[in-house]
Amino acid sequence: MSTLKAGVIGYPIHHSKSPIIHGHWIEEYDLTGTYETIEIAPENLKEDIQKLVDQGFHGFNATIPHKENIMALCDEVDETAKAIGAVNTILIKDRKLFGSNTDVFGFIQNIKQEVPHFDFKNKRAVVLGAGGAARAIVYAFKQEDVSEIIITNRTREKAESLIELAPDQVRVIDWESREDALKGADLLVNTTPLGMEGQLALELDLTQLPTHALVSDIVYTPLMTDLLSDAKAQGNDIVTGIGMLLHQARPAFEKWTGILPDVDDVLIKKVLS
Ligand code: ATR
Repeated sequence: MSTLKAGVIGYPIHHSKSPIIHGHWIEEYDLTGTYETIEIAPENLKEDIQKLVDQGFHGFNATIPHKENIMALCDEVDETAKAIGAVNTILIKDRKLFGSNTDVFGFIQNIKQEVPHFDFKNKRAVVLGAGGAARAIVYAFKQEDVSEIIITNRTREKAESLIELAPDQVRVIDWESREDALKGADLLVNTTPLGMEGQLALELDLTQLPTHALVSDIVYTPLMTDLLSDAKAQGNDIVTGIGMLLHQARPAFEKWTGILPDVDDVLIKKVLS
């Protein structure tokens, strides 16, 4: 391909790890090009995206606060992004914008790489939280034939708004009763910021969680959250949060270059350092 021109838009954006990830792959696959952070204030979204088109960008990622608003500016949006209501990857082709969402792929592929023997089919999953990440994860569970998805969230109505994603599978329970949901669960995922550095702790006693259950956290600062270390101490398989971030970047890189890159230890170390 010609020299890659890509990046990530957000506001603020300096904290983004995406340039490290895509920069690693540009080097690894012997390509030339750049992947940069591009700060765009919400009120400038339309004009600034037009500038990227004019500058010959192949595409870009979108993060907070643009994931929802960018949808209306896309010429086409794929089914997954439509269902979730958020676009995180944009391919520019013939000056047209093609929006997609790679979080579903990222979440599932991370678990498949980390715990290859885990089978989602006919399992019972518990999801803590009901924000954007939870929407992608509930959609992912439906795709993987998880038979029961229990969502528990501080604001119950927000959890109920996720029922439409998988009406036959989703059941909502009160946040105060979250420990009861662990009984008989095969999968537990935290999508809240609880347990993240600088945030409140996630208060959750895992005693009722079967030891065969897989526990995943989307928080990755720290990498080993209290939830994950408690689960590990109990004998559960765990999956840390950094992998979802890395795996969701793979289909984006593929859209722009035709190469579906791998997540390896070198990349994980780079992103964590
Ligand atoms: P994202 O879109 O990245 O998933 P989000 O929309 O901010 O992030 O969602 C964060 C989730 O964590 C929400 O479900 C939020 O609960 P509310 O719907 O009640 O806001 C949950 N969350 C955040 N802080 C929390 C806290 N202190 N206790 C319990 N839940 C919390």
